[in-house]
Amino acid sequence: MAIQIGDIAPDFTQESTEGPVHFHDYIKGKWAVLFSHPKDFTPVCTTELGAVAKLKGEFEKRNCRVIAISVDDAKSHKGWIGDIEETQHTKMNFPILADPDRKVADLYGMIHPNANDTLTVRSVFFIDPNKKIRAMITYPASTGRNFAEILRVLDSLQLTDHHQVATPADWKDGDDCVIVPSLTDPEELKKKFPKGFKALKPYLRMTPQPNR
Ligand code: BEZ
Repeated sequence: MAIQIGDIAPDFTQESTEGPVHFHDYIKGKWAVLFSHPKDFTPVCTTELGAVAKLKGEFEKRNCRVIAISVDDAKSHKGWIGDIEETQHTKMNFPILADPDRKVADLYGMIHPNANDTLTVRSVFFIDPNKKIRAMITYPASTGRNFAEILRVLDSLQLTDHHQVATPADWKDGDDCVIVPSLTDPEELKKKFPKGFKALKPYLRMTPQPNR
């Protein structure tokens, strides 16, 4: 069955550019973003891996490990890293899983046969420190991902885990949030949102980001 939000991220052991990865050990106690690439030595993937290498510090600030996967083997990945570093002007600083047997691609449903029988689509899995899948996004091979969006989703997940808010359209860290509709007790509202809130409708209440 396809992976769904709330499932425990499937565990696996697989070779990578940084040696064998025991996935649940690798992500222990941290958030994780696992993202797939259709194939080595492809142009869009080359730019994506360079972009993530440059953003590694941003993921670390969010206590988040990043790990990529492509269906080729580790020897091929290591050759490709040279091209990524040369063309994207960065140093690779996170592992790329090898997956020639498609163990991980199959476990996570990264191959969408109506798109391509053998190559993975561009899947992104957000996994929390309890190893639960918290969000997923999927793009076709032809569309490179926006990693600012991926950081934004992480920010929203981490904020809404700790405060009774949700994040509205196009929200960015620091913007106003909406109060969850289930919270209606006036005393609780005062306690949880001391900066106050604006009720545009009874169900649409905007408040300054509570952890700012
Ligand atoms: C790419 O990463 O550039 C790519 C991979 C597969 C199909 C099309 C583009």
